Amino acid sequence: MSFDSENSSNVAQERISYKDFSELPFLRTQLINMQLQLQTIQRDNERMKKELEGYNVAPGIVCVVQEIIDGKAIVRNYNGIVFAINVPEQYKDKFEIGTRVSLAQHNLAVLDVFSKDMDYRVNMFELEDKPNITYESVGGLEKIITELEEMITLPLTKPELFTKFGIDSPKGILLYGPPGTGKTMIAKAVANQAKAKFISLSGSDLVQKYIGEGARLVRDLFVFARDNAPAIIFIDEIDAVASYRSDSTTGGDREVYRTMMQLLVELDGFNSNEQVKVLAATNRIDIIDKALLRPGRLDRILHIDMPNESGRRKIFEIHTKKMPIDSGVSIKELAKETEGASGADIASICREAAMFAMREKNKKVSKENFKDAISKAMKPAKEPEEGGLKTHYM
Ligand SMILES: Nc1ncnc2c1ncn2[C@@H]1O[C@H](COP(=O)(O)OP(=O)(O)OP(=O)(O)O)[C@@H](O)[C@H]1O
Ligand SMILES: [Mg+2]
Repeated sequence: MSFDSENSSNVAQERISYKDFSELPFLRTQLINMQLQLQTIQRDNERMKKELEGYNVAPGIVCVVQEIIDGKAIVRNYNGIVFAINVPEQYKDKFEIGTRVSLAQHNLAVLDVFSKDMDYRVNMFELEDKPNITYESVGGLEKIITELEEMITLPLTKPELFTKFGIDSPKGILLYGPPGTGKTMIAKAVANQAKAKFISLSGSDLVQKYIGEGARLVRDLFVFARDNAPAIIFIDEIDAVASYRSDSTTGGDREVYRTMMQLLVELDGFNSNEQVKVLAATNRIDIIDKALLRPGRLDRILHIDMPNESGRRKIFEIHTKKMPIDSGVSIKELAKETEGASGADIASICREAAMFAMREKNKKVSKENFKDAISKAMKPAKEPEEGGLKTHYM
């Protein structure tokens, strides 16, 4: 544009155009920004559309394949209802006994086949390669250890001995006794000694966390143990699944009963030569269904009682091993003064005594510290306070 035009209106127009040109780079940037924004909005829009489509699909019924017969499959849902369905061509290779499938609610058409990837089990059962608890850290249970050595460690480490003598080793052992007496500990120590994998789960988890899945979980538990043999399956608080119920009427009870039946099936189904042993623990043997204790199941019962004086001494020795202790402290006396204390009580007494010493800034744990800890731990539960509050002392 030229600036030497004579026409004033022309000059004004040129000024405007000049201004326009000067803003051009700014407008260009703005345009690019807006184009970018548009792209983001379009992408978001696509994503939301897909999400919405997902909401439009009705949820499916999850079933487990039981049998496959000539292109048809018999599947069972978790309520125990059995269906016969056609296996669509595209899913033929994926259908196997035990696979989980999702079926449409209105016509039972196959919506999805879940992969048989069993890794989810690792999250459900606790798997320890070789627990780090050894026999040295368990006090006063020498007899139980000898028995467990014969029943578990020997068959797992030297199975040929049993074959040579033509005898079967026990498949399952039930440990019972009051809380805090070392049942869980000893199970781990045995797994450590037998160099076996330790697969643990708790009966109450089976009942509470995996409602409707208990029976499947029990089945998977045994498959998982075989895959990881030599292995010890440890079921803590087995009374939660195996308590005796004469007439189960509620759904929850039926579900627990099914889980328990599956446990019996699995115990019967595996061979004692397989490198898998089952250890279970309970505080309440009186409520365990007798069917579980029949031969070939959890037929060896070991009672772990409260420790006697010499047992308590050993437990005190174990729990004070790494503690700086005053020379005035007599372990023998501590054991005498703690009649009725469990292993867990003793562990907590030692912890408390060390805490007292720390608070007093002592270099060593004194006799007084232990005395205070014992009187704190051995105090019976107080009567309910006003307002129904009840204070318990460990
Ligand atoms: N015999 C023992 N020797 C050494 N420590 C023990 C012994 N018994 C119990 N303890 C201590 O008590 C803690 C709890 O023990 P553990 O969990 O094995 O008891 P439990 O019998 O399985 O109890 P629960 O029935 O409540 O499950 C252990 O971590 C350990 O510190
Ligand atoms: Mg335990």
